[in-house]
Order: sequence, then structure tokens, then C-alpha cells
Amino acid sequence: MEGLQCSWRHCLSGLLVQLLLAICFFSYLRVSWDCPKEYPRPEPSSSDAIARVLHGSPALVSTPQPSTPQNLLILLWTWPFNNPVPLSRCSDLRPGTADCQITANRKVYRRADAVIVHHWEVGFSPKIQLPPSPRPTSQRWVWFTMEPPENCPKMRALDGLFNLTMSYRSDSDIFTPYGWLVPRGDQPIAPPLNLSAKTGLVAWAVSNWREGSARVRYYNQLRLHLPVDVYGKGHRPLPRQGMQQHLAQYKFYLAFENSQHPDYITEKLWKNALQAPAVPVVLGPSRSNYERFLPPDAFIHVDDFPSPQVLAQHLLALDKDDARYLRFFRWRETLRVVSGSWALAFCKACWRLQEGPRYQTVASIATWFT
Ligand SMILES: *[C@@H]1O[C@H](CO)[C@@H](O)[C@H](O)[C@H]1NC(C)=O
Ligand SMILES: *[C@@H]1O[C@H](CO)[C@@H](O)[C@H](O)[C@H]1NC(C)=O
Repeated sequence: MEGLQCSWRHCLSGLLVQLLLAICFFSYLRVSWDCPKEYPRPEPSSSDAIARVLHGSPALVSTPQPSTPQNLLILLWTWPFNNPVPLSRCSDLRPGTADCQITANRKVYRRADAVIVHHWEVGFSPKIQLPPSPRPTSQRWVWFTMEPPENCPKMRALDGLFNLTMSYRSDSDIFTPYGWLVPRGDQPIAPPLNLSAKTGLVAWAVSNWREGSARVRYYNQLRLHLPVDVYGKGHRPLPRQGMQQHLAQYKFYLAFENSQHPDYITEKLWKNALQAPAVPVVLGPSRSNYERFLPPDAFIHVDDFPSPQVLAQHLLALDKDDARYLRFFRWRETLRVVSGSWALAFCKACWRLQEGPRYQTVASIATWFT
């Protein structure tokens, strides 16, 4: 791995993070839909460029090239969750774009044009884990997270340090959503939905079961009025292979986010529901927030109903009305789902940093990221 030059305090905090990761990894094996590792998980069935990059490029560091103004040197201060991920040449992801030299080797810190700081690894003790100040002249720092605010401790310590923000929030300088829809273009048309293969009604996969959370409270009401198959720790085991195919047997999928924040819409919607495909029943930000990213008739929002009981009646009615149910899939005629990846996120940073020095730069990340 990269030559981390670390003091004993760095190493100790590193060990703690490793321990957390180990716990996370083992719970992931038992089917975790909430682990932060979700974002980079390769998508075997997808044929898009992102998947090709994830599978095709074994290199952990992109091809070294001399750093010129067009070819910025970007240092990843840490790997996300201390987990090295495959990087890609940015011009392979989007032909015609410039490349950056992206590395996690801290030896380049003094000459790096930009440093991307993923919050998770520095959040435990920012004072000792952030890159050293003063920074090299004209070096830009990018603050990066895909986690909601409650998983980003000690944001106050970041005030006045960062030049750009990078997150799932659409008002970030570098917007890195978990997924999005693109025109199908010349991609093969989606196979017609086989309704007789949909033998289940409602599925929900959850690992981070927090009693009292909005989603658990909603589920506890909903299950009184219709059957819900729950997968994850303490519930049904989900097959490790072919989870999407498994979820595709259901008519509806509860894409309930573990916390509610603007634009915080995760792979629960994009992969577990839309890509499976099953009709997403969403609990997260407002309906109008979802409608910024997908057609209004592609999903059901819990806020559309006065109570879980009325939602349950609605789902049971749709179950008996094939024509109405199938209308939820009309988006598939013209659109397809793309999932985000770390490799693409870093290239987005590369492209954005090359555009020049104008960004919106929030005065205080802690005040903005709520
Ligand atoms: C980046 O932010 C730091 C801290 O606010 C500031 O001192 C520096 O001038 C900024 N650099 C650029 C290139 O905007
Ligand atoms: C639809 O699913 C049913 C049940 O799984 C299966 O028997 C049938 O062959 C499928 N039809 C098509 C066209 O794939």
C-alpha cells in the first residue's frame, strides 16, 4: 500500500479505523445495506463505463504522468474507509476530458495541486489527522463525504480550511450522487417486466436497525396492515449473490433512508429498487426533492399518504391492478440507472478542479452540511 508516513498517534487512530472497518466488513458479509462500503460496490450486471472501469482496471494508482496545469496532481489524503479502490484514467470514463494524476501516496503532498480529504478517516480527531498546515501555496483542499451529517463528527474543526465541497448534496462544488438516470440512448431496450415472476409483495433490506428511527417507526405501523419481508441482521438472510434478482421478485421495495437530509438518496433507491426493478416506496427527503432526480410517477412517497395504513391499502390495491402497477415502470423505456463509484467521483473532482478557481466554497461546512 501507499507509504503512509505516520506518527504513533496516526497509527493508533488508523488501527481504530481498521477495527471499525473489520466490524463493518463482517456485518457486511451478513448482508449490510447500510455499510459505508456500499458506494463503491461493483455492479456486475451493469454494462456501463463505470462498471468496466471497476472491473477492468486492477491498478490502484492511475498511470503516472507529469503534472502540468492540464494534468493536475491530486492526492487522496486517505482511501475512503481506508479501503483502496481501483482508479481509472478520467479520459477513459469520459472521452475527450483531460486526465489527472490521482494517488494516495502522501509523499507527493508538497507538490499536489489538490488534496481530497474524505471525512470518515479524519473525523475522529481532525486536529492530528488533517493534512498539515500551512499548505503549499495554491494547493486546494476538497472536503468529501457520502455519509449523512450524523456520521460526520467534528465538522467545526474544518471551518476555514477547505476550498471545495464534494458530496451527495447537489449544491456541492463537486456533486457525487449515489445514482442517477441517463437516457437509454442506443443501449438495448429494457426487457419487459415479467409480472408472474413477481411472487412477493413488499421487501425491505435493513442492517442498521435503530428502534425509534423514522423508518423503523413507519415500518412498525405498516406491517400491521400488510406483510413485509424484512432482510438483514436478525431477519431473513439475503442471498449474497444475486440480491437484485432476489429483490426483483417483489412488487415493492421499501427504499427507506436511515436518516432524512436534503438529497440524501442512496443505493437503496437506485440499486435495490429501480435497478432490480421493483417499485420504490421511499422515505427520505421530501417528494419534491426526489422529483429533482427521477420522474414523479416512478416511485411512491410515504408522504403521499395520511398514514401507513392508507399506504398499505394503496399497495394492496396496486397489487390487484396490473395496468396501474406497470405504469410505475414507464421510465425504463427511455432511461436507465447509473450508479456512482469512487473512481468516477475522483474524476469529477479532476474535471472540476481543471475548470479553474471559481467555486462557491461554503464559509462553514458544519453550518452548511445538515
Ligand atoms: C483555499 O482555502 C484556503 C483557506 O481558506 C485559502 O487560504 C486559500 O487561499 C484558498 N486557495 C485557493 C486557491 O482558493
Ligand atoms: C415469467 O416468470 C415465470 C415464473 O418465474 C416463468 O415461468 C416464465 O417463464 C417467465 N416468462 C418469461 C417470458 O420470462
